[in-house]
Amino acid sequence: MDNIIEAKDIYLAYDNQANIIKNASFSMKEGEVIVITGVSGSGKSTLMKALYGSIDIINGSLKVMGSELYKTDKFRIRAIRQNIGIVFQDYKLINDYNVEDNVALPLSIQGYKKAFCKKQAKNLLAHVNLALKAKRYPLELSGGEQQRIGVARAISHNPKIILADEPTGNLDEYSSSIIWDLFQRASIELKACVVVVTHTLPSELYDFNYRRLHLEDGVLNEIY
Ligand SMILES: Nc1ncnc2c1ncn2[C@@H]1O[C@H](COP(=O)(O)OP(=O)(O)O)[C@@H](O)[C@H]1O
Ligand SMILES: [Mg+2]
Repeated sequence: MDNIIEAKDIYLAYDNQANIIKNASFSMKEGEVIVITGVSGSGKSTLMKALYGSIDIINGSLKVMGSELYKTDKFRIRAIRQNIGIVFQDYKLINDYNVEDNVALPLSIQGYKKAFCKKQAKNLLAHVNLALKAKRYPLELSGGEQQRIGVARAISHNPKIILADEPTGNLDEYSSSIIWDLFQRASIELKACVVVVTHTLPSELYDFNYRRLHLEDGVLNEIY
């Protein structure tokens, strides 16, 4: 089976500053879950940005869905991004859209019919226990509820890759466990590659099949 993500000896840095990440290599096949740990400032978010194509690699090779991310044209990058779902730590919901429309956003951007978008959003909202809030607006909801919507949105278009940067950072145990459950479902049912940055390994992970990569002093190591 082909690798969905394949990083070989990559170096990451901002402008001409020192390397944040040196010589990192890892690969992921479909359905795999990787958890990235490391202290604040160790480069976790930088690595996530590289996977999404929003910062250039300095050296090495980074292939996502078969394409060398930094040597491909903008149309292919756009096509790759349509297969990625991103969960932001600060949710980044659209406050003028109701909950249902936020969840359906990746689908409506891709031109799916309204009825299909609605149906998919309804299903996902039921999974995150927010069916009753479909017509509410983000600012009427708690942080945990907003983040659950953020995760539902990230998987609404059945992405091949899910990238989540500290998605449960400030959430209570209940919301946090729903989010981990969705990631697990996405890896099993959608065969998605799921990459989650987290500074705490929650108890939910104990029966969760995942690999852990740890960043320290710019070096990425797999912890077995
Ligand atoms: N846009 C930026 N420009 C320059 N340096 C940055 C930028 N973003 C982050 N950094 C630096 O890169 C290092 C790693 O940051 P980051 O990837 O955000 O770490 P983490 O997510 O592990 O806390 C830090 O030293 C940070 O100051
Ligand atoms: Mg970060």
